[in-house]
Amino acid sequence: MDTELEEIKEILKKYGQEQLLNYYNELDEIKKETLLNQIRNINFELVKKLYDSTKEQKVNVEDKITPIDYLDKYKLNDQYKYYENIGKKAIREGKLAAVTMAGGQGTRLGHNGPKGTYDIGLDSHKSLFELLADNLKAEGKKYDIMIPWFIMTSRENNKETVEFFEKHRCFGYKKDKNLFFFVQGELPMMDTEGKILIGEDGLVKLAADGHGGIYESLVKTQMTKKMRELGVEWVFIGGVDNCLVKMVDPVLMGIAIDKKVTVACKSVVKANPHEKVGVFCKRNGKPNVIEYSEITDEMAEATDENGELLYGESHILCNLFSIDAIERMGAEPLPYHVAFKKAKYIDKDGNLVVPDSPNAYKFEAFLFDAFGEVDDMAVLRVKREEEFAPVKNSDEKGVDCPSTARELYKKFYHLD
Ligand code: UTP
Repeated sequence: MDTELEEIKEILKKYGQEQLLNYYNELDEIKKETLLNQIRNINFELVKKLYDSTKEQKVNVEDKITPIDYLDKYKLNDQYKYYENIGKKAIREGKLAAVTMAGGQGTRLGHNGPKGTYDIGLDSHKSLFELLADNLKAEGKKYDIMIPWFIMTSRENNKETVEFFEKHRCFGYKKDKNLFFFVQGELPMMDTEGKILIGEDGLVKLAADGHGGIYESLVKTQMTKKMRELGVEWVFIGGVDNCLVKMVDPVLMGIAIDKKVTVACKSVVKANPHEKVGVFCKRNGKPNVIEYSEITDEMAEATDENGELLYGESHILCNLFSIDAIERMGAEPLPYHVAFKKAKYIDKDGNLVVPDSPNAYKFEAFLFDAFGEVDDMAVLRVKREEEFAPVKNSDEKGVDCPSTARELYKKFYHLD
């Protein structure tokens, strides 16, 4: 143990992170071991790179951005049935699984608890998790199956999430049979000097590594293996905060199978050319999503011969992947994006600091940064009012908030 501690001290010294052991002697035995484990698992070279990246000026790389082809679900005419039949057959054969990403912190919503436990104010008072479960069960019923459901949590909210499901008898699902939880990866948070922070518990201050961590987590936690054992070939990945998310879509699946692509994504057309959303495009010939901040006014307003926006297909976190694609995407590290956030920590004098303005860097990977790993993918435009009712903000904001989502949900299900 002592030699091990010495080795760890050496590593910390090498990377200028000795502060991590400042309170080691004050921890109980279990926490001591946890802290050492955390330190062992930190990739300090990566941490160094991440910190350096916060200092770098963003170089304006001359990426070649071009529009991406898409299909409109409601302009498929005869092809609609054709794709639908292909998809239905595959779903009936048990080839589809659903993954819900529920590891986010939901800071904008400000709900005390995992976002999936949030009640959007329907008369039924169902949580987001239950609304999703209802949809998944109803869709599965059409095929006489239960679609296997995988929930990605974070270390922070895993326990509460699992307990919430158990309290509600897993909404008719069976844990470890057709319902699986897995915890996403984390990265240390650091201060403006590049020092990794110590959290209130005396341990390394870690934060979820963004929804882009999903591919690596699915592989590392053996979920892709589990999926294969279940006979799954296609995986729908969506967020927990879209109460109209349509996880089972035979048309989308039929398109992916027929067109032999490994990724098929849904889009909704931008509400207006300057809506602040990321849109599908090709970047240097590969599928990608371009942020609204990266796009010029001219590009945002450009239309094709039918008057449709060239960059009008918003990414709504509704994507279907083959398991092969997930494994390929999980093999290569994605770029990390830096966010400057408020984070409580223990300072060098042992005091808890509760900042009232951002003080720490958090690093997140974005799911769509992996799209470039595949040569081609299909984009299917669907109707916003049928599939997209996000709960991002609190009601004061007035957009993408519980009241707007509730209205969309009620309208779609004719609840008034
Ligand atoms: P958002 O990017 O909207 O983040 O996540 P969020 O955590 O829900 O909310 P804010 O930004 O803190 O207010 C979109 C989806 O991706 C999941 C979220 O749970 C949500 O379903 N997500 C996000 C993760 O699962 N893990 C992450 O690290 C980040």
